[in-house]
Amino acid sequence: MLNSKDLTGLRNISSGEIDEILSLASEYKKKLASGNKVFDVLKGKTLVTLFYENSTRTRTSFELAGKYLGAHEVNISASSSSVQKGETLIDTGKTLQALHTDFIAIRHPMAGAPHLLAKTVGVSVINGGDGMNEHPTQALLDMLTLRETFGTLKGLKVAILGDIKHSRVAKSNLFGLSKMGAEVWVYAPRTLIPSGFAKLGAHVASSREEAVRGANGVMGLRIQLERQSGGLFPSLSEYSRFYGVKDEMLPLAADGAIIMHPGPVNRGIELTPSLIDGDNSRIEDQVTSGLCVRMAVLTLLNEYRRAHI
Ligand code: CP
Repeated sequence: MLNSKDLTGLRNISSGEIDEILSLASEYKKKLASGNKVFDVLKGKTLVTLFYENSTRTRTSFELAGKYLGAHEVNISASSSSVQKGETLIDTGKTLQALHTDFIAIRHPMAGAPHLLAKTVGVSVINGGDGMNEHPTQALLDMLTLRETFGTLKGLKVAILGDIKHSRVAKSNLFGLSKMGAEVWVYAPRTLIPSGFAKLGAHVASSREEAVRGANGVMGLRIQLERQSGGLFPSLSEYSRFYGVKDEMLPLAADGAIIMHPGPVNRGIELTPSLIDGDNSRIEDQVTSGLCVRMAVLTLLNEYRRAHI
C-alpha cells in the first residue's frame, strides 16, 4: 500500500512503493494484453482530470485508466472552466470535493500546484506534471518499460539527452531511477542543465558519446521552446547537429539498449526518425506502460483511502 493519499512526486516516495506500483502495473499490462478492459476496482468512485496545460498521452491515459477500472470519469480543461472567470485552484479543488470527487489528476504550469491542492482537499491528488518540477507517473512508466525489458532497474545506465533544465520528466526519473539502483546520465547544452542536478545524483556527461556509451536506455527529451525565454541555443537545426542522438551512436550503447522518449517528439531534432521508428524503440510501449502505471496508482491510492479515510 502507498504511504499517502496523494502522489505528488517521486522525491519523497520509497523504493518499496515504486516497486509495488510497477508490479501492479505489470499485472494490469498482462491483463490488458489478453483483451480484458473491465475491472471494478474503482466502481462507484469518481476521477476528475483537471488539466491547465495541453496533453495527449497523460490526460487520455488517466481518463482510460479511470474508465477501465470502473470509475465515473470527468475531464475539465482550464480553457473551458470557471478558471477563465478568475476562480483559484483551491476554490476549484473545494468545488470538486463538494461534488464527491475521489481522485483528481492535475497538470498545472506552476511548480507545487498539486502539493497545494493535496494539502487543501481530502480528495486524492495525482500530479500529471507541474511546471518544471515533477511528472511522477511519466517516470514510473519509463521505469516500467525499462524493468520489463531488462528484468530489473538495479545497475542499469540510463542516458537522458535534451532539455534537462525545463524537464519535469528528467527530475522525476532522476529521483525514481536513483532510488531503484540505476545510474542516470544527462547530456545537453550547458545552458539546458540546471545547476545542482549533479548534486541530486545525476552524472553530467561531457559528450553525447559519453552519455550513450554502455547505456541500457537512451532517452531523448523534447526541446521545450514554450518554456524558454530565448537564447539557450542558436537554432533547432544546430541543436540537432550537435546534441541530438544519431543512428551511428546506437552501437556505443549496451547490447539490447532501448530508445525512449516521453513524447511529444520533435521528429529529427532530439532523435532521428530511424531511431524513433526502429527496432530498439520502445516509445509506443511507453504509452501502454503509462496507462498501466496510472491504473496501478489509482488502485493503490484507493486502497490507501479504504484503510485511512
Ligand atoms: N509525456 C507526456 O506528458 O505527454 P503529454 O504532454 O501528451 O501528456
